[in-house]
Amino acid sequence: MTVTRVKVPLLDLKAQYAPIRDDVHKAVAEVLDSMAFIGGPYVQTLESELSSYVGAKHGIGVSSGTDALLVAMMALGIGPGDEVITSPYTFFATAGCVDRLGATLKFVDIDPATYNIDPALIEAAITPKTKAIVPVHLFGQCADMAAINEIACKHEISVIEDAAQAIGARDADGRFAGNLGRIACFSFYPSKNLGAAGDGGMVTTNDDELAHTMSIMRNHGMEPAYHHEIMGGNFRLDGIQGAVLSVKLPHLDAWAEGRRKNAELYREMFEARGLLEHLELPFVRPGVHHIYNQYVVRVATEKRDPLLAHLRANDVGCAVYYPSGCHTQPCLAHQGYKAGDFPISEAAALSTLSLPIFGELSDEQRDTVVDVVAEFFEA
Ligand SMILES: Cc1ncc(COP(=O)(O)O)c(C=O)c1O
Repeated sequence: MTVTRVKVPLLDLKAQYAPIRDDVHKAVAEVLDSMAFIGGPYVQTLESELSSYVGAKHGIGVSSGTDALLVAMMALGIGPGDEVITSPYTFFATAGCVDRLGATLKFVDIDPATYNIDPALIEAAITPKTKAIVPVHLFGQCADMAAINEIACKHEISVIEDAAQAIGARDADGRFAGNLGRIACFSFYPSKNLGAAGDGGMVTTNDDELAHTMSIMRNHGMEPAYHHEIMGGNFRLDGIQGAVLSVKLPHLDAWAEGRRKNAELYREMFEARGLLEHLELPFVRPGVHHIYNQYVVRVATEKRDPLLAHLRANDVGCAVYYPSGCHTQPCLAHQGYKAGDFPISEAAALSTLSLPIFGELSDEQRDTVVDVVAEFFEA
């Protein structure tokens, strides 16, 4: 079969934007006309739409996924002397927030198949100082929350979901990310499945008291006006982001379906080209609804960088999420970890890469990706 190759970006936000452009413009114009720039009705509407979408009682819009994590940890009173368990194989924000609050990072290695925290290793990391477990639903697949919640419940530890990459994902029991822990944190960074026109985030919870605390904390802990009983910060969400996200939310499931369909087609196509001996495709835990914020494949370590170079030379977008674990980041050195501490995370960092999966991929683009990958291994 001859493939006519085309350019394939890793993500094409313009393709997603084109069909909703008029609705987005209208929504932004409404905010501008109303002057409801910070908080206000557009943020409140999004909060109620998004919390009902994930099945949580409360949603509190905040300024980013990072600030969602920060305010969640602050609301649980995490600080010096406390320990927080998470995986080192995540975006830096997950670990960075723990460190910024003066708490101790207790990293636990990942499951090599899903790249999510390995529940079998969590219990050994728990001490009387453990205040929270922060599982990350990496790449759009829920961590094994049944196992994690069982451990957390036994030891009376809070679970904060880092659901930044997982809006719309469901765990094996059918429940949505955002309704699987005590607090969940979402990011609306533009490359996320639900991306804003800038930065944004949200925390969701079923706990009335925590919801109230976080809603005050996002505005400097202020209640009533100019009285600050508790410490907070400026973690507020803009009205424009609320309005844009309310336009996009009804499309979210269809966009995720596009990604899921691409994942299915990639599997068929890679298999048909005899590539499965070279490429480990994403493993999905039985019953889990993966929303593929990233489509991450694994190859032999020595092939990873040459494959990236080959893809780029042929105009196929690709990236590495993440080239190193948080435990070896220089600014976290005082946490006391070193290279070699988390071999499964470290191996993943050296052998994985992300391929284009966005829902609007054309047949030609998908064919190109598969053909360029096949050419690399057939050479
Ligand atoms: C796993 C994870 N946690 C936290 C964040 C932080 O979100 P934001 O960039 O919105 O601050 C991101 C996204 O960048 C992420 O992927």
